[in-house]
Amino acid sequence: GAPVEVDISKIDLEPGMRMIVQWRGKPVWIFRRTPEQLAALPGLNDRLRDPASDNVDQTPAFAKNETRSLKPELAVIVGICTHLGCSPSYVPELQPQAFDSEWAGGFYCPCHNSRFDLAGRVFQGVPAPSNLEVPPYHFVDDNHLIVG
Ligand code: FES
Repeated sequence: GAPVEVDISKIDLEPGMRMIVQWRGKPVWIFRRTPEQLAALPGLNDRLRDPASDNVDQTPAFAKNETRSLKPELAVIVGICTHLGCSPSYVPELQPQAFDSEWAGGFYCPCHNSRFDLAGRVFQGVPAPSNLEVPPYHFVDDNHLIVG
C-alpha cells in the first residue's frame, strides 16, 4: 500500500476530535490529547500488560516512549482491536462508572470488552493480547504527516 499524506491542521480544533484515514485497508486514528490526558498515562502503567511497549510488533522504535508517538499531543494509532479485529470505540473522557472505576478514558472494544488507554496500551485482564498498533509515520511539516 502507498503511503498516505494527512493534513492534520483540521484536528487542531478541539481535544476529543478524531480523524480517521485509511492506510493499507486499515483505519488509522489521529487525535489530540490534552495535557491532562497525557499526564494521566504514566499512572496507568501498573495496570497495563505492556506499559513500555516492549512488543515491537505493535510499536516501531520511534514510538517506544511514554506517549507512543512522535509528538506527545498527537496520537497516530491503527484502530483495530488486537484480539479479533473489531473496531474499538473512542471514549476520550473520564468514565468513572462505565467500565472501570479508575479508567481515565481511551478505547473500548465492544466485542469482548477489551480496554486500551489513550496511547493504545492494553489493560490487564482483557482478551486483547497486546497494545494497538502504531503505524510507521513521520512529519513533513507542522501540519502534514505521512503514514506508511
Ligand atoms: Fe476486541 Fe475481542 S475483538 S475484545
